[in-house]
Amino acid sequence: MTETSRPLSARNRLILAVDTSTIDEARRIIDELSDYVGVFKIGLQMLMSEGPQVLKVFQDKDLKVFFDGKFLDIPNTVAMATEAVARVGVDMLTVHASGGKKMMEASVKAARSGAAAVGKQEPIILGVTVLTSLNKAELNDELRVPGSVSDQVLHLAKLCQSSGLTGIVASPEEVSQIRAVVGAGIALVTPGVRPKWAATNDQSRIMTPADAIKSGADYLVIGRPITAASDPRDAAKRILEEMEQGVAAAL
Ligand code: C5P
Repeated sequence: MTETSRPLSARNRLILAVDTSTIDEARRIIDELSDYVGVFKIGLQMLMSEGPQVLKVFQDKDLKVFFDGKFLDIPNTVAMATEAVARVGVDMLTVHASGGKKMMEASVKAARSGAAAVGKQEPIILGVTVLTSLNKAELNDELRVPGSVSDQVLHLAKLCQSSGLTGIVASPEEVSQIRAVVGAGIALVTPGVRPKWAATNDQSRIMTPADAIKSGADYLVIGRPITAASDPRDAAKRILEEMEQGVAAAL
């Protein structure tokens, strides 16, 4: 999936976090929400519970899928894992930027060859910079990375770009700063999004859908405000409307 000059609709910019463990539950979520959601994100919980065949559930329905496996290993291992995922066919996948440039370049190359080998489109490879669960003290004292969290986020964002990645995962608060350093040609994907009417759950540094779009996010990852709502379709519809307001305000 590569960016085109045609702007994506709000639906195609909404990524639903499918944080469940069973294929049956994933099927139920797809059936209920695919009118409103363009991309479905599955992570290690689902993959470890059901195996890679879970990806088929999305492909059978021609839906876009984001595999959030956050690869971090030596370049050859990450390349082989990326190639395997690209052959199965996903639209987005994640790698840790802290694996370094050689690792990210190897992932980009493997995604290209894996997708080409089976005639599928190359996935967007998203770099994860600093996990939002880490604070400055942990970064400085445990990991011995000096400076502020945002210095390190911006440093790794530039490294993602120079390594050929086509996207970056960013907290809503980082989006505008990252956009300023990487420019327009890279997809910024933002979790931690909460409409005013939804529970914050365990997210702390949050932004509304409209504000996240206004800040420069290309895609929003949203889970519980939709999946745990009493009427998930209505929640998704309201979120799309808020995203559209953000697009209009940004013009
Ligand atoms: O339910 P909720 O909207 O909080 O889901 C957000 C999704 O984004 C979850 O799958 C979560 O693991 C993921 N995520 C996040 N914050 C990050 C990176 C990923 O919330 N920094």
